[in-house]
Amino acid sequence: MFKTAITEMFGVKYPIICGAMMWLSKPPLAAAISNAGGLGNVTAGNYETEEEFRRAIHETRKLTDKPFMVNITALPSLRITKEHHMMYVKVCAEEQVAGIEFSGAPADKAVGLEGVEKLKKAGVKLFHKVGSVRHAVHAEKVGYDGIYAAGIEEGGHPLSDDVTTMILTPRIVESVKIPVVAVGGIADGRTMAAALTLGAQGVMMASRFIATKECQVHDKIKQELVRRQEYETSIFGRSIGLQGRALMSKVIKEIIAIEERGGGLEELIPLMSGQRIKQAWETGDVDYAPLMVGQSIGLIKDIPTCQELLDAMAKECIAALTKANAYVK
Ligand SMILES: Cc1cc2nc3c(=O)[nH]c(=O)nc-3n(C[C@H](O)[C@H](O)[C@H](O)COP(=O)(O)O)c2cc1C
Repeated sequence: MFKTAITEMFGVKYPIICGAMMWLSKPPLAAAISNAGGLGNVTAGNYETEEEFRRAIHETRKLTDKPFMVNITALPSLRITKEHHMMYVKVCAEEQVAGIEFSGAPADKAVGLEGVEKLKKAGVKLFHKVGSVRHAVHAEKVGYDGIYAAGIEEGGHPLSDDVTTMILTPRIVESVKIPVVAVGGIADGRTMAAALTLGAQGVMMASRFIATKECQVHDKIKQELVRRQEYETSIFGRSIGLQGRALMSKVIKEIIAIEERGGGLEELIPLMSGQRIKQAWETGDVDYAPLMVGQSIGLIKDIPTCQELLDAMAKECIAALTKANAYVK
């Protein structure tokens, strides 16, 4: 049904990839997405020891015989250090995972060219999530197999260049020869069709997967994402050089107020700590910690299974492409 560089590279039915989600992209969700015909994600930062990380890969493989991605996020962190990144690379190469989504620092800086070589030798496909043409061009030179082009609409940590997916995708497509996947602002078949029309070989989404039956978060959060609209997210963290996009909430307003009056890390860190975020996902208290989601939440209207979501998306994407084609005489 779909034939793109992504479906060909991984032998999957749909060119739909789940992005990294700290605390959420774990084996049950990853396997559900891969079993549904997409590419699930196991986010390495969820695991601090080699044993735990390897166990997560094995657990995913017990739940699916289909390929899935692993994310390695190389952003400033007190919890996950360079040693962790090196360990993740070693395990991914030994386990011969299908592919890695690197984000933050590129692999050549985060784990060295030896790390890149080790992964390539093991047949692991390497993708870098970037927010600019210059980072995409660098990744291609380093030998990555593809680019995730992430616009400012995305949940998580969009680059402070603040370029939208609509512009970034075609700019990167025309600047590199390796396949490009569009990220940010995608949550249904219409946005998927738009991304493919811009030259993307696939789409990545994360927020949409939170509101699925298989995602292990409190049900109140899933309901909240259905209720909230596209204008109800906010950028924060600019003052500390690491901007994020999260669901608008009491705590986000508090964080922004602290930033506006020049408050520093010592005031901000307690409100943004990883443990606090983890607890908010588990208890369903959206006002307790920044919950990283993108503007794509405006397109979330139900809580399907991953299979129902991907099948409906594919159908809607084909209908949208067919409709657009009919405009051409
Ligand atoms: C809850 C959540 C946690 C995320 N955690 C990470 C992360 O640890 N590393 C990373 O590179 N991106 C992370 N992201 C960003 C996603 O991988 C993806 O780039 C982005 O969410 C796409 O935009 P969308 O959510 O609108 O689909 C996170 C996103 C969400 C929604």
